[in-house]
Amino acid sequence: MWAGRRRRGGSWSVRGWRPGEAMLDAGAFVGAAARAAAGRGVRAVALDVVPDFLAAGRAMSHGAGVAWVTADARRLPFASGAFASVWCLESSIFPRELSRVARTTGATLCLGCEAPADGRGGLEAFLDEWAEYGWRLAAHRPLTLEALATWRRCEAELVARRPHFEARYGSRGYLRQLDHLAALVAMYERGSAGHALMVLER
Ligand SMILES: C[S@@+](CC[C@H](N)C(=O)[O-])C[C@H]1O[C@@H](n2cnc3c(N)ncnc32)[C@H](O)[C@@H]1O
Repeated sequence: MWAGRRRRGGSWSVRGWRPGEAMLDAGAFVGAAARAAAGRGVRAVALDVVPDFLAAGRAMSHGAGVAWVTADARRLPFASGAFASVWCLESSIFPRELSRVARTTGATLCLGCEAPADGRGGLEAFLDEWAEYGWRLAAHRPLTLEALATWRRCEAELVARRPHFEARYGSRGYLRQLDHLAALVAMYERGSAGHALMVLER
């Protein structure tokens, strides 16, 4: 399931993406979601802590139609209820802040993140936390197997191209990323965490 609904003629409609409505892409990297929204006339804002990512996104298609904001998603520099649509395709998610800046009714929240997949009530607990902010799950697509395959490929590439990555990020940076990937792979293999796309509404 997905937030988009196919219209006759093949184009997509996305809830909260009507022209003129406001959309936030938090943890945007190069703002793929924000640029797609801007291409539909949505007032899109892309936010990230790394200004270089935002500068790269600005030069990509529809980048000129996006407002690029360097800030920490833990403290969003926006008024409460400012956005009809909030996207966070990133694992550092901050429920209180993402909920605060979304409209209190008629809002959509899209998450692409690490999600409990242990079959022991973890997903319910995850959703309970969002329910405290008024969100209910509208669509859920588990992506654990796809993500695990990706993390394994990344881990293998990191090992195979160690000199390249070490020269670029230093030994500590390289080893930190390798540890992070190894931990993700182990968690996914154990089934104690997974990956999912979720659409919540309120
Ligand atoms: C997995 S990438 C996001 C990918 C992007 N959303 C996309 O769909 O292509 C994670 C991004 O989140 C950013 N990030 C991590 N923690 C953040 C925070 N506390 N506040 C803002 N951005 C953050 C990182 O700089 C990075 O660009």
